[in-house]
Amino acid sequence: MADDILSFRSEHKGVVTARKTSEDQAPDMVSLRPERFDDYIGQTATVETLKIAIQAARLRNESLDHILLHGPPGLGKTTLCHIIANEMEQEVTVTSGPTLEKGGDLMGILTHLSDGEFLFIDEIHRIPKVVEEFLYPAMEDYAVDFVFDKGIHARSHRYRLKRFVLVGATTRVGLLSSPLRDRFGLFRTLDFYTPEELVVIIQRSAQLLNTRISENAALALADRSRGTPRIANRLLKRVRDFAQVRADGRVTREVVQAALALEGIDRLGLTRLDRSYLETIIDFITEGRWGSKPLPPPFRRKPTPWWMWWSRFY
Ligand SMILES: Nc1ncnc2c1ncn2[C@@H]1O[C@H](COP(=O)(O)OP(=O)(O)O)[C@@H](O)[C@H]1O
Ligand SMILES: [Mg+2]
Repeated sequence: MADDILSFRSEHKGVVTARKTSEDQAPDMVSLRPERFDDYIGQTATVETLKIAIQAARLRNESLDHILLHGPPGLGKTTLCHIIANEMEQEVTVTSGPTLEKGGDLMGILTHLSDGEFLFIDEIHRIPKVVEEFLYPAMEDYAVDFVFDKGIHARSHRYRLKRFVLVGATTRVGLLSSPLRDRFGLFRTLDFYTPEELVVIIQRSAQLLNTRISENAALALADRSRGTPRIANRLLKRVRDFAQVRADGRVTREVVQAALALEGIDRLGLTRLDRSYLETIIDFITEGRWGSKPLPPPFRRKPTPWWMWWSRFY
């Protein structure tokens, strides 16, 4: 048996080779994420504030203040953090609130950061309380306190950190404790995008994806994207598939309408699930559980028998 193993020779030779393999030659994945402010559309007030802060920090040769970005998902918080780091010519270490379980997790990350380096914490409202306590001195004094041993042998040691820049992103700013919120020098809320801004984003993405799209089609897509670039890019990819298989590859208004009808997305960008969710809420209100207050106009309609909305769940 031992001899069998020793005498075995693999048929697969040249596992390591100096020649280029097909994997090496595969094209890089196309990223639709803008890397510079020039490609970042909209959010003019936020971009202006950040540009000023970046320029001032560069003039003084200092690192930036900590930044808190707030807004619904898909509006460009992560993108903005990478752009800021690019503009400051710095690296970004990325982590997220739920992955930082213990104070030690954050300590390890903080002690490895260099001067001016960016630490991006996504979903920062989800970091546990114990980890949050470590962040306070780290953000304010660029130091963390270790406690060695336990009981009467316990000793505290203060470890100096480099002047890193913390960028926090959150969809629920109300869940952040005020001591944490107050330690951010810059706090900006991102707004939903106008259809005109989304048209520019869609046209840029179409160009990166090598797809031809008419102005009309881009506007039709923008109208169905709920003011969110991530949704616009996702719908564009579905429409591109449809155009390639069912049309001549060119995205027109008709192609957008046909492709999105197939996906069950209506003129407002609502999916089947969204519509059923809304109808349930409307039914719930019109069934009298609203109380004696007059109903808002969109909800004034004949009630549906209870079993009809019940059947939507069972
Ligand atoms: N202002 C913008 N201009 C162009 N594209 C954008 C913009 N904001 C977001 N995007 C696109 O939307 C996608 C989602 O953005 P992201 O930064 O991941 O959102 P968030 O972190 O707020 O959930 C990105 O991949 C990017 O392609
Ligand atoms: Mg994000």
